[in-house]
Amino acid sequence: MIKKILLGTVTVIAAVLLGLYIFVELSWDKKYDWPAPNLKVSTDSAVIARGKYLVTGPAHCVSCHISSFDNMVKADNGVPVPLDGGIVFQMGPLGQIVTRNLTPDPKTGIGRYSDEQIFRMMRHAIRPDGMASMPLLMPFFKMADSDLVAIVSYLRSMPPVEHEVADAHYTFVGKAVRTFTNTFKPVKDPQAPAEAPPMAPTIERGEYLTHYVCNCIGCHTKRDPMTYEAIGPEFAGGMEFEPWPELHEFLKVDKRLWARTPNITPDPNSALSKFKTPEEFITRFRQGRLISFSPMDWGPFSRMSDEDLTAIWKYLNSLQPVKNDITETVFIKDEKK
Ligand code: HEC
Ligand code: HEC
Repeated sequence: MIKKILLGTVTVIAAVLLGLYIFVELSWDKKYDWPAPNLKVSTDSAVIARGKYLVTGPAHCVSCHISSFDNMVKADNGVPVPLDGGIVFQMGPLGQIVTRNLTPDPKTGIGRYSDEQIFRMMRHAIRPDGMASMPLLMPFFKMADSDLVAIVSYLRSMPPVEHEVADAHYTFVGKAVRTFTNTFKPVKDPQAPAEAPPMAPTIERGEYLTHYVCNCIGCHTKRDPMTYEAIGPEFAGGMEFEPWPELHEFLKVDKRLWARTPNITPDPNSALSKFKTPEEFITRFRQGRLISFSPMDWGPFSRMSDEDLTAIWKYLNSLQPVKNDITETVFIKDEKK
């Protein structure tokens, strides 16, 4: 009798697991055929110049869409490098994603794609082939129509570079996270504005930049290390970045070093409160990167305008202060804890 019950239970569990396995394998690469926003690329030099400001500054595409660590450091220092992609981001147990070639090369770059496909990626996080990407990585879904047009117009104006990059790879755990969580789901109806708040030192502009352009909120919020969903108050810091062995090796820093984001709400002990005036905040940003392996896009942000940096300072200072003392932003993890 007991044997029978046991056997029955094992069979049921095995069937459920098999069902789950088949379900994940069939669902993880679901394709979306949603329409793209109705936008048109421009050849106007003022529009292209604004696109360049966004790509190499606040929207920091140059931090990721590069082909080597060498070019990553160059881009950070403001040296022009091709956006030919290929840097591999390890996502722990989920697998890896690879940044794409954004130059207009017709074989390996965005020359293969229509403007609609690129606009749809930026607005809805749906890749040109219809697969969902990760909105958190490029939270441009609420970026204004005019800024999307500026960015894609600039990308189209760059010299093409032929560089084939490998595609993303998901483990079974990665496929399951894609299937069951919201981390890799497109954004249905982001309600993006037609025009961005004008470049001026306003709270409204600061909110727009920190959420949908610079992604300060993406990093300066504590997140689940598996699904990247927020598990702490916005802007209060605490997200941890594990060592990136290849990058640490390239930069010759200790491979045990982790980074952690500080609190940038206006609590008296926060990293934000170190800067009493917009001028002090701007001075810090103009210095750029001080910690060589910090994941923060210091180079691109250091080239933001005074208006934009002041807008960010004002917006962050308008937030509800959250008490969260982050004493160490660089640390070695004690695995015993
Ligand atoms: C934090 C790193 C990061 C930043 C910043 C970033 N990207 Fe990406 N981008 C990626 C990764 C990684 C992928 C591949 C995503 C995937 O596999 O789902 C990607 C994919 C894309 C794609 C889809 C191309 C394809 O063939 O699937 C486009 C278009 C794109 N990015 C444009 C941009 C633009 C424009 C910017 C700046 C406004 C930008 N990205 C900023 C990392 C980044
Ligand atoms: C890719 C992740 C990432 C993004 C995006 C990011 N940060 Fe950070 N930030 C960090 C990390 C990690 C640190 C701690 C290491 C360091 O100081 O570089 C940090 C440090 C800081 C500090 C403390 C600097 C100091 O010298 O004490 C401030 C202020 C800050 N960030 C503000 C911002 C603002 C404002 C934005 C958006 C414009 C932003 N961060 C975007 C990861 C990020």
